[in-house]
Amino acid sequence: MNKKITIAIDGFSSTGKSTIAKLLAKKYNYIYVDTGAMYRAVSLFAKQHNLVGIDFFHSEKLISNLQEISLSFRFNKELGFSEMFLNGQNVEKEIRTLEISQLVSKVATISEVRRKLVKEQQEMGKHGGIVMDGRDIGTVVFPNADLKLFMSASADKRATRRYKELIDRGDDVNFKDILFNVQERDRIDSTRKDSPLVKADDAIEFDNSDMGITEQFDRICTLVNRKLIEN
Ligand code: DC
Repeated sequence: MNKKITIAIDGFSSTGKSTIAKLLAKKYNYIYVDTGAMYRAVSLFAKQHNLVGIDFFHSEKLISNLQEISLSFRFNKELGFSEMFLNGQNVEKEIRTLEISQLVSKVATISEVRRKLVKEQQEMGKHGGIVMDGRDIGTVVFPNADLKLFMSASADKRATRRYKELIDRGDDVNFKDILFNVQERDRIDSTRKDSPLVKADDAIEFDNSDMGITEQFDRICTLVNRKLIEN
């Protein structure tokens, strides 16, 4: 039997990382971990405790409360993927709002937050057979991942996708705010001191501005199959 490999998918926000990761996990029967959901859940906790808002951030207080945060993923059979739980509560919907998107990059700059989440992510992936997506998976979490992918697309295309997703689920948002948020998160995620979003030297880049999901997925499966034969 083939060894179960580790697949790291990094890239900018709304580049379809999670769509590809979920399809891969399903096809190869691997575990899928959405690390962005973990940073979002910590941000929700901070928001619920008035530790962060658009114009304030009590980062020291968040750091001293980190041990109060318990995160877990629970597989939802009907949806076919895992949902994020924060201290036993399903927060899958709350963590996907524009408000949390506006706070999360700020929270993700904090080294203590990153250390806690990276440790949990490494634990989840220690036996391989995992597809993990985020910003620092191929560089920090699994620098020895068997396959590293780096996804990008124009900010306009990404904001259009995100806008459609939020409108489809009934959120009242406008396109300009979404585009600004996408660009602002790119800036903060790529320039933060601890584990900035950079392409790992050995990652394979996919610009999917003009590439459909099926073409992209087929190409990635070819790469995975090659790795499985090598292993
Ligand atoms: O993948 P996402 O858009 O849900 O991620 C939300 C934010 O979390 C993103 O803007 C930066 C942060 N993040 C991170 O710093 N490191 C990760 N591995 C995943 C996400």
